[in-house]
Amino acid sequence: MTDSPTPAARALCDGRVVVVTGAGRGLGRAHALAFAAEGARVVVNDLGVALDGAGASLSPAEEVVAEIRAGGGEAVAHGGDIATTEGAASLVTAALDAFGRLDTLVNNAGFLRDRMLVNLDEDDWDAVMRVHLKGHFLPLRHAAAHWRAEAKAGRRPDARVVNTSSGAGLLGSVGQGNYSAAKAGILGLTLVAAAELAGYGVQVNAIAPAARTRMTEQAFATTMAAPDAPGAFDTMAPENVSPLVVWLGSAASAGVTGRVFEAEGGRITVMDGWRPGPTADLSARWTPTAAGEATRKLLAVAEPPLPAYGAR
Ligand SMILES: NC(=O)c1ccc[n+]([C@@H]2O[C@H](COP(=O)([O-])OP(=O)(O)OC[C@H]3O[C@@H](n4cnc5c(N)ncnc54)[C@H](O)[C@@H]3O)[C@@H](O)[C@H]2O)c1
Repeated sequence: MTDSPTPAARALCDGRVVVVTGAGRGLGRAHALAFAAEGARVVVNDLGVALDGAGASLSPAEEVVAEIRAGGGEAVAHGGDIATTEGAASLVTAALDAFGRLDTLVNNAGFLRDRMLVNLDEDDWDAVMRVHLKGHFLPLRHAAAHWRAEAKAGRRPDARVVNTSSGAGLLGSVGQGNYSAAKAGILGLTLVAAAELAGYGVQVNAIAPAARTRMTEQAFATTMAAPDAPGAFDTMAPENVSPLVVWLGSAASAGVTGRVFEAEGGRITVMDGWRPGPTADLSARWTPTAAGEATRKLLAVAEPPLPAYGAR
């Protein structure tokens, strides 16, 4: 027995510095607040664009910083475009200048330009690929260069990256060819980054979230609606996705890398990736007809694919 009080439990992210892109609204805002609540110091990035990527404003990022500070946390705003070299490099510098270190990068920023493929303009393709895929690659690349330099200087990091894919990237989504391709690309990037950066003490995972934000509240109004009954669990609140992101971004997730998780409401699902199904090997070149006959036999015993979102 001792008279000394039990030491207060350490918060999950005490001492860590976390960058969250697109953290002025929606899921990113929820992640930033959740990291701060677990003791992290946070760089709140947001370009403050409209739902289609137009315009710019520092206000959303500054408002989230004010919320974190009002709760007793530490945060700084960053208003750069994460899909530019300047914006991505300055994200890392902002963390180092404000807090002296960088431990976790959450890539989350993005916007939509939904169209059926036959109506999808080249500009809408480029803008969505740029903000999601390049907007993941560039911050990842600059953060990884910093962590590699730390590792080479004998200060091996315990770093984390959480990327944001989507059910659209996993299964495809009708009317979102550009977005689905970008979000599928993020899954490939996650696997490569996890493999390349493991040696430097960096873990890289991805989530496919679903939540009520301006991105979804109109297109999926019924599914996303808040419950009417007082006290009922608000399944689609963006705050429900953040606990997994905070854990993946903390030192507690040691050993977890190169994985993809769906997160929605109270549910967390490990997504199994592509893996070989039924196979046939002729040990010689097929004729097209024989290849077709063999393929039909394989498909007859293979798991049918899950349908794309919105497919009829
Ligand atoms: N809401 C969902 O159900 C859902 C589902 C699957 C995936 N996602 C993904 O989650 C992420 C967050 O989406 P959300 O629903 O919170 O949307 P949101 O529109 O509420 O938030 C996205 C934020 O990113 C910012 N942003 C856009 N372009 C930027 C840029 N170039 N640089 C910096 N900031 C930029 C916007 O200003 C905005 O505040 C996105 O990657 C989205 O594709 C969301």
